Amino acid sequence: MDANVLVYGAYGHTGRFAVAAMLRQGLTPVLSGRDPARLAALAGQFPGLEVRQAAVSDSRSLSAAVRGASVVVNCAGPFLDTAIPVMTAAVRAGAHYLDITAEQPAAQEVYRAYGQLGARPDVAVIPAMAFYGGLPDLLATAATAGTAGWGAVDEVTVAIGLDRWWPTEGTRITGRRNTATRLVVDGGHLVPVAQPAPLRDWEFPAPLGRRAVTGLPFSEIVVLARHLGAQRIGTYLSAAALEDIHDPATPAPEAVDAQGRSAQRFAVDVVVRRGTEERRITAAGRDIYAVTAPLVAEAARRLIDGRVKALGAVAPGEAFDAADFLDALSPDHLTISRHWAG
Ligand SMILES: NC(=O)c1ccc[n+]([C@@H]2O[C@H](COP(=O)([O-])OP(=O)(O)OC[C@H]3O[C@@H](n4cnc5c(N)ncnc54)[C@H](OP(=O)(O)O)[C@@H]3O)[C@@H](O)[C@H]2O)c1
Repeated sequence: MDANVLVYGAYGHTGRFAVAAMLRQGLTPVLSGRDPARLAALAGQFPGLEVRQAAVSDSRSLSAAVRGASVVVNCAGPFLDTAIPVMTAAVRAGAHYLDITAEQPAAQEVYRAYGQLGARPDVAVIPAMAFYGGLPDLLATAATAGTAGWGAVDEVTVAIGLDRWWPTEGTRITGRRNTATRLVVDGGHLVPVAQPAPLRDWEFPAPLGRRAVTGLPFSEIVVLARHLGAQRIGTYLSAAALEDIHDPATPAPEAVDAQGRSAQRFAVDVVVRRGTEERRITAAGRDIYAVTAPLVAEAARRLIDGRVKALGAVAPGEAFDAADFLDALSPDHLTISRHWAG
């Protein structure tokens, strides 16, 4: 199998981080997207990388773009517009598919559409391999997998602490595009999140500390529900971050370090409960867009190396050894802390 990784949406804010992360993984990214001028400008920054222009409305261009790729990484959102055509082209070409959707219905559609494509058991299709979606899923899996009795859990609570959220244009467009009712798991089933959204305080590790959070589920609910048979799964987001993205005056992220990361700090706290026992695991780091790149590049690397536990349409925690995956990103990209005895 050829080891090329096609990055669709390569010239977007997160796509550019992903291209750099693929190179750091020793992979050869092929730059793809719909705009030839923006592709050419990006190619100027990464001399020697191949460029393949393709539009989601033109399946022939997509088929030509994905030819020979081992993995297709879709960074072009709204994923409600791009995920199905890009995933379909990838799977038909025998390539693994990863995307970074935070949109719940896009992740659901990817799982559904893969099933309708007919069996391609030799490829993995993993939506939401990103900060929202995959990271909480890997954390919850790492807190449970391989421990006797923790195969079935009662409740998974995800709390996402952000000191600020400087949204990209893609985040703003995706927020407007995705009007679907947000879902949580209750009674073992996907159901609409309670309205008005639940509010509470959450104690994040320093430097974030105690923060007001509000119930706001993202794609992690869909991927967690795919494989963790929990009765209840919910997500909270720091209320101040939600105010940031609701405010049209909040600026886009600004690079403040050599890697292009913003000053934004995050902590993702996952609490898994089984009866009266709880396990808490936390990932802390900088810049939710930048950290998505090592997540998706690590996934691409593992798919190419065959370090994968399950193929087909799967969640990140099903596909990979979650604890080992998180350790590989630590400490450069994530600081992981585990809080349980034994
Ligand atoms: N799950 C997570 O944690 C996570 C993390 C980061 C980003 N994301 C998501 O990833 C997406 C991109 O975010 P970003 O920050 O990189 O935004 P961005 O800088 O605005 O980039 C968006 C990219 O998507 C492309 N695109 C949009 N609609 C397209 C379409 N119909 N066909 C082809 N290309 C299309 C854009 O191309 P044009 O310039 O040609 O429009 C651009 O390359 C958003 O949906 C965002 O929510 C999720």
